[in-house]
Amino acid sequence: MKFSPRMKNLKSEKAFDVLEEVNSLREEGKDVISLAIGEPDFNTPENVKRAGIKAIEANKTGYSPSPGITELREEAAKYFSASREVSFSAENAIIAPGAKPLIFYGLLAMMGPDSEAAYPSPGFPVYESIIELFEGKPVPYSLPAEEGFDIDPDEIRSKTNEKTDVLIINSPHNPTGSVISKESLVELAEIAEEYDYWIISDEVYFELSYGGDVDSIASLPGMKERTLIIDSFSKTYAMTGWRIGFGAGPRQLIDKIGKLITNSVSCTATFTQHAAVEALRSGGQFRQKMVDELKERRDLVYRELNKVEGIECQKPEGAFYAYADVTEACELLGLENAAEFQKFLLHEAGVAVLYRECFGSRFSDEEEEYIRISFANSQENISRAINRIRKKVAENSKGILSRSSRR
Ligand SMILES: Cc1ncc(COP(=O)(O)O)c(C=O)c1O
Repeated sequence: MKFSPRMKNLKSEKAFDVLEEVNSLREEGKDVISLAIGEPDFNTPENVKRAGIKAIEANKTGYSPSPGITELREEAAKYFSASREVSFSAENAIIAPGAKPLIFYGLLAMMGPDSEAAYPSPGFPVYESIIELFEGKPVPYSLPAEEGFDIDPDEIRSKTNEKTDVLIINSPHNPTGSVISKESLVELAEIAEEYDYWIISDEVYFELSYGGDVDSIASLPGMKERTLIIDSFSKTYAMTGWRIGFGAGPRQLIDKIGKLITNSVSCTATFTQHAAVEALRSGGQFRQKMVDELKERRDLVYRELNKVEGIECQKPEGAFYAYADVTEACELLGLENAAEFQKFLLHEAGVAVLYRECFGSRFSDEEEEYIRISFANSQENISRAINRIRKKVAENSKGILSRSSRR
């Protein structure tokens, strides 16, 4: 049987390969602590669960309008207006079965046959995969470590041309935990206006920040008209399996995404939407508790990881990931790269993490080696895991820093 040539471009997420390996090691009886998964270890708030159950019991189990039930679109508009400090109405809001479908629909609506789309590398791997699926040209941009993994607007300008249709940004960022500075956002907005292209602003970690403000590019003058904000209930309310995301953008774009929903999944599960209304109405306290706990874990990871020989880690400002430079650890252990280091940690220390290529291809062999550590796990497990890493690195260290001149 023949497949569409388009399918040759479709990738999977390397993270899922790691998760499969973790599961099979656990089935063999191995004790593996997973700091790989990007999923909160909290339960969905009780009142949100109850709202979902009540909706099922009230037979809210039929189709809903494709862009979402009015109640939720209104709540979403209120939430975005307050949190992003720019006014949205219900017609600007869209509900979908997760943030991922909104990335898919957004790119489908914005890209033409000759499109170029820029996205962060390292970054959420789905961006590249979907751009390639739609036969556009993927244009990865870097996030310089020396700038705290902020975007360099000069690089974006140098990678922009008249074929650029979309710039994807993600703040707070997966996997580096960085937050894009206001100054960078202002420059990015200027470039987008000059070249007249769309911004997809992936803000699924908007509420998960530890001190500094997170700004949305949509709040800058003129940007609401060219930005699709993508948000999700997955991380903020520990609802990954409910499958519900939400977004905001100019009405014409939202109408087009609504049509894409009609033509693909019809709508988001109706009772899930009723649960989401409750999450938006009452979720403030839950969010605060989660952020307080994540901040403690962030501090723990940052403090303990930097004590491991050969590992250097910047303080994550948001999301629940630490992105650690393991170049020296690889050298100490005689390992080629972070992918080998990840295998070493999994098999020798019983700790699962992800490595650079899980977040896109490297720009050059000279790039430093990185792993991502998720702190969506208990403080106890995080401490145990980092202790194991420290011990195994020390035991196996060959004490030679042959490539250290690269740093
Ligand atoms: C940056 C980013 N965007 C989008 C998503 C997908 O979220 P959802 O579960 O709402 O599809 C994730 C999930 O890991 C993510 O890290």
